Amino acid sequence: MPRANLTIRANEPGPTISRHLFGHFAEHLGRCIYDGLWVGENARVPHVRGWRSDLVAALRRLRIPNLRWPGGCFADDYAWRDGIGPRERRPRRINAHWGGVVDDNAVGTHEFLDLCAQLGCEPYVAANVGSGSPREMRDWIEYCNAPAGSLAEERAANGRREPWKIRLWGIGNENWGCGGHMTPEYYANEYRRFTGYAREFPDAPLFRVACGPAGDDVRWTEVMMRDALKGPFHAAPMFQGLSLHYYTMPGTWENKHAASPFDENGWKSVMALGWKMDAIVRGHRAVMDRYDAAGAVALVVDEWGAWFAAEPGTNPGFLYQQQTVRDAVLAALTLNVFINHCERVRFANLAQIVNVLQAVALTEPGGGRLVLTPTWDTLELYSAHQDARRLAVDCDAAFASHDGLEFPHVSATASVAADESITLTVCNTDPAAAADVTLALAGRNVSVREARVLATPVLTTCNTFDHPRAVTARPLDGVKTDAAGVHFTLPPGAVAALRFS
Ligand code: AHR
Repeated sequence: MPRANLTIRANEPGPTISRHLFGHFAEHLGRCIYDGLWVGENARVPHVRGWRSDLVAALRRLRIPNLRWPGGCFADDYAWRDGIGPRERRPRRINAHWGGVVDDNAVGTHEFLDLCAQLGCEPYVAANVGSGSPREMRDWIEYCNAPAGSLAEERAANGRREPWKIRLWGIGNENWGCGGHMTPEYYANEYRRFTGYAREFPDAPLFRVACGPAGDDVRWTEVMMRDALKGPFHAAPMFQGLSLHYYTMPGTWENKHAASPFDENGWKSVMALGWKMDAIVRGHRAVMDRYDAAGAVALVVDEWGAWFAAEPGTNPGFLYQQQTVRDAVLAALTLNVFINHCERVRFANLAQIVNVLQAVALTEPGGGRLVLTPTWDTLELYSAHQDARRLAVDCDAAFASHDGLEFPHVSATASVAADESITLTVCNTDPAAAADVTLALAGRNVSVREARVLATPVLTTCNTFDHPRAVTARPLDGVKTDAAGVHFTLPPGAVAALRFS
């Protein structure tokens, strides 16, 4: 049985793991918003002002820090004025990117911000650069954040007197692709133009996220840091965050692998492509460090996750996919990368929250049953890290290799919370062999308070509407403590969290 020795350096200082690493993303895509989160005010399924209550309750358990909206590619096609005012008068638009379906704009700014209030999370709004104008973006920010003036009055007439004071604004999305097919030089200029009109109102400072690279495109990062970070008049950076998008997509764009079933090679390709995130983040960090040694600008990984073929029988433009424990381990590996780089990576958004790509929940069409996915469990196991202080973890586990890419057999992260409790999160990426783990905590005497594991004997098992909790976190049995440390065994393909106090 493979062995791993872990040491948590519990007596050393470490940076804060921003809770915003555990953010989510809701796009007007497939059944994410409509017939997912949003069931409408006349729905039979219980809801609060149109937002599905059981889903909101399940998401609240994850302590979601921020929710990105309305896209994605949709954002650069979106006219915010379509989504305000009486619903019956809102225009019906074709969602050109995602299935060509009609979006009746039932969900607009007010509804989305109501959802954020129900979830208790911060809104993160993506403004339109690709097909929009600086004036449109300026007006949207003013509508949301200004205390007075015509736009504030219009907002009040639409039911909201107080400004929302939205802090997080993305200035465009994937402007190298669906957001305008721009070169980095062209976008850098556009960014400079747009950001000048992203105005701040009293008590409403902005955190501006510029469109960043796709995957390992360090040239995009270089150009943005060189040409758009510093303005002519002020010393302050012109953006506080630079986005990065990377999806784990086994197969090719035209021929993606299925979410399930898969064989051992399929498992390994997801681990290997997932761990590539580490090299990608390192590459962008190195460029950002050269221009911003103090680390003022955050790397914002506002789209990440597994992208498989759409489930047979579903609209391919809706990106609906099932999940297995493979996705849960991928999520753990990826979150470990973010935590290990949390000095620079301070925001991240899993794509997407419900019914699209690596969702944490799936719903039956027509407001039917709800099922939580194995990724929901990973997010729940990791929630203890939110705003905790990172502790370094030494791990002597070997690396595996697949198609020329390496990934660790065992990957672990740890943090200490304000109440001094320590959480270790650890995954076994080997699909066939259990891992025997010995953990030492240097500098602390602790006892195990809780140990939970997400694992299943058949790795291709999915949570379905008939068997909603087939793959779910359970107590991890057999944890032993002696003078050498804490000993436990991780089943093949598993994610675990242990809490010590
Ligand atoms: O998340 C699905 C799509 O992936 C988003 O709309 C886009 O930004 C990315 O290409």
